[in-house]
Amino acid sequence: MNGTILSALGESDAAAFAIIMQEQGAKDAIIGEMGTYSKKEAEEFIKSSALKIPYERHYAIRHDGVLIGVCAIYNADFLAHSAEIGYIIGFRYRRRGFAKFAISMLIKILAGEGFKLAIAHSKKENKYSNKALLACGFEERLDEDGTMAFQRRLTEHDGIYNLTIQG
Ligand SMILES: CC(C)(COP(=O)(O)OP(=O)(O)OC[C@H]1O[C@@H](n2cnc3c(N)ncnc32)[C@H](O)[C@@H]1OP(=O)(O)O)[C@@H](O)C(=O)NCCC(=O)NCCS
Repeated sequence: MNGTILSALGESDAAAFAIIMQEQGAKDAIIGEMGTYSKKEAEEFIKSSALKIPYERHYAIRHDGVLIGVCAIYNADFLAHSAEIGYIIGFRYRRRGFAKFAISMLIKILAGEGFKLAIAHSKKENKYSNKALLACGFEERLDEDGTMAFQRRLTEHDGIYNLTIQG
């Protein structure tokens, strides 16, 4: 995964981010409360949500400097030491391991901050997302309401602080 990093989302990412979301076109491509389609909405989202809410963090996934996707940590539960993750990869960048890279980096971030459990709500029919989660050590679980989800227990050994290390 040479040349691929997670970094802060900035307002200059709005146009590329809007394209990623427009190409996806489906309301179920959810990262937290995200549902962004126009450039203006993307700008609003980045300003109001990604840059300000303290524990809903959105990261740019960049490859060779190009924004190729966005991933997030949200719904942190500080009593259960758990948090959810979400991710979207732009259509043209799929099937190159970027989702697995992003998931593995989010694991490192969460574990590095002392979280004990990472949760992902990925639908049963979302097979490539589920495949990426399983490849990153997640296992299936049933939520209390019967919804399928994935979880991964985290240990201190999963955590690092050098976010440029290979995923
Ligand atoms: C699901 C999604 C994130 C996958 O992104 P990606 O970068 O293509 O995934 P990866 O390249 O890491 O691939 C993961 C696995 O799925 C496989 N895969 C991905 N796309 C595939 C395709 N079109 N055909 C066959 N296999 C595919 C990969 O080969 C890989 O399998 P492996 O572990 O055996 O090598 C992407 O399709 C997406 O952004 N979807 C919309 C948003 C979404 O559903 N997010 C998840 C919910 S939070």
